[in-house]
Amino acid sequence: MAPPLRLAALLVVVVAVFASAARADLVISRADRKVDLTSHIVRVLTSLKVENAGSEPVSKVLLAFPNIQAKNLAAIRAFGTEGKVKGLSSILPIEIVEPSGVPPELTFFSASLHKPLTKGKILHLDVLTVFTHFLQPFPEEITQADSQLVVFQDSSHYLSPYPVKVQTLSIRLPGGRVESYTKYGNTKLVDSELKYGPYEDVPPFSYNPIIVHFENNNPFAVAKELIREIEISHWGNVQITEHYNIVHGGARLKGEFSRLDYQSRPYARGVSSFRHLIARLPARAHSIYYRDEIGNISTSHLWSDSKKTQLEIEPRFPLFGGWQTTFTIGYGLPLQDFVFSADGKRFLNITFGSPMEEILIEKLIVKVVLPEGSKDIDVSAPFPTNQWQEVKYSHLDIAGRPVLVLEKPDVIPEHNLHFQVYYKFNNISLLIEPMMLITGFFLLFVACIAYMHTDMSISKNSPSYLAKLQWDEVQATVQQIQGIFHQCLAVHDKLETSLHDLSRSGDAKSCKAARKAADAQFKELAKELKPLLLSVQSSPQSYQIWPKLEDLVAKEREMQEKLMARHATVVDSVEKKQRGQDIENRISSQQQKIAALRQEVESLLEYLSEI
Ligand SMILES: *[C@@H]1O[C@H](CO)[C@@H](O)[C@H](O)[C@H]1NC(C)=O
Ligand SMILES: *[C@@H]1O[C@H](CO)[C@@H](O)[C@H](O)[C@H]1NC(C)=O
Repeated sequence: MAPPLRLAALLVVVVAVFASAARADLVISRADRKVDLTSHIVRVLTSLKVENAGSEPVSKVLLAFPNIQAKNLAAIRAFGTEGKVKGLSSILPIEIVEPSGVPPELTFFSASLHKPLTKGKILHLDVLTVFTHFLQPFPEEITQADSQLVVFQDSSHYLSPYPVKVQTLSIRLPGGRVESYTKYGNTKLVDSELKYGPYEDVPPFSYNPIIVHFENNNPFAVAKELIREIEISHWGNVQITEHYNIVHGGARLKGEFSRLDYQSRPYARGVSSFRHLIARLPARAHSIYYRDEIGNISTSHLWSDSKKTQLEIEPRFPLFGGWQTTFTIGYGLPLQDFVFSADGKRFLNITFGSPMEEILIEKLIVKVVLPEGSKDIDVSAPFPTNQWQEVKYSHLDIAGRPVLVLEKPDVIPEHNLHFQVYYKFNNISLLIEPMMLITGFFLLFVACIAYMHTDMSISKNSPSYLAKLQWDEVQATVQQIQGIFHQCLAVHDKLETSLHDLSRSGDAKSCKAARKAADAQFKELAKELKPLLLSVQSSPQSYQIWPKLEDLVAKEREMQEKLMARHATVVDSVEKKQRGQDIENRISSQQQKIAALRQEVESLLEYLSEI
């Protein structure tokens, strides 16, 4: 099955129409294009040697793209230097233009030179273009065991409004299988590099379609939305909180997902999925956390050296094509590294995008929360963004904190540049909150003294003293009870582990032994629990917590029963040599129930630990 040839058909027409249009007297004496297809974000570096063959000086160079590519263009940058040999180049301003008489199928950009290129002179121009959604998964749906194949379409000739004397194209592939690629004369595939050319004396607007169909299992991490909150506290901290909604943007998973299959051989049975994301945080980041709606996720790893802190996060489940997950990461940064003052103003200077590697953010919202009382807010960003202001209230705020919001679609790692927010801030404002706190503490202090005076008179056999003794006793017993429940949960975990071992080793005998041991432990723990519960129940101080304890006992017992039943089902099915998928189906509803119970038990335990 061959991938569709959409782009090519369209362009042949365009090129024929347009070839005759006369351009300035520029000639490209050499064009080398390097395309990097190793991730889902496509980067093209075009190195041009532009010569002025006419007599008039030229101050703009045109760059052409088919609309179908231009709509996926996330960033374009041009660097130029004049001279026979290539020297240090400087960045050139670039803008979108509409030259007269061009067909609507092409989009033009114009790079403005710092000084006009005179007759016979040579300009070295490097153009970096970055595209998103350029690689099409083909097929669009794959199973859990399949590799992901994608299609790349372009032209073997550089689409240029000027004639090109010599040109080459090289395409770097991620390694792995190459299903097919368009072959012309001068085409070769060596290792993971596909080369076209050199081609000589190609006329303007020459377009020669090529298609490359290859394997790419690198993470297609796409954030549908990222909200980045940067909160400045003049007490020494810049707090960053990032809320992600991430989807695997590659070929969709079809058929059912089997966790047993995945767990037994994750690399063979889930090559197209991704399990980790890497965030590169600033070197002095501290108090780093990673959580989702269920709670903190501890399966993250952190490395740091003097230049950066690297956080590897692992979502609760692997992501396959089309699957989504939401989570939050947060960290603090030292104020003096990011907020400075100049000309009577202060300014924040920090990077705009996400610290995640190779991620495409379809919608990025950056919120800069300034200290209460900040004025004259001003922003300087290296690219256009939508901007507006909001107000955020937190405890102790009176007027609220001004929030500057910046929004940008299609953000890629190349947008991770510094931007600045300038604002005026009066140091007196800094004292308002502490003054409020001091006043508050003072009042509390006065209240305490008043209370002490009255309560000093409590004698050892007064009712309130006895009540306190009883309460202390209840607390101590509840602590012991909690200990027992934590032991129960540990036994649950052991049961789970024995099932995982079973899916690897197939050893049903030791799995059964584990269940027997667990059963004995449960009985033992139940025996220990009984007198403790009776003691709490009989105390008049326990009227509030007793219902929670009863609930906890019931939930834990139900979870125990479900776990044992599921354990028996799985062992039984494995002994009867049933397929992994069938087993998975049989236990999936039990599985959900158990997970829900576990959550309830844990939150009850948490409630008890706070009394
Ligand atoms: C999650 O981790 C953060 C940072 O380690 C900690 O401050 C917070 O209390 C934790 N939350 C829970 C619910 O464990
Ligand atoms: C912002 O910080 C970057 C990196 O430290 C630095 O290169 C840049 O000059 C700073 N910008 C301003 C306006 O201070």
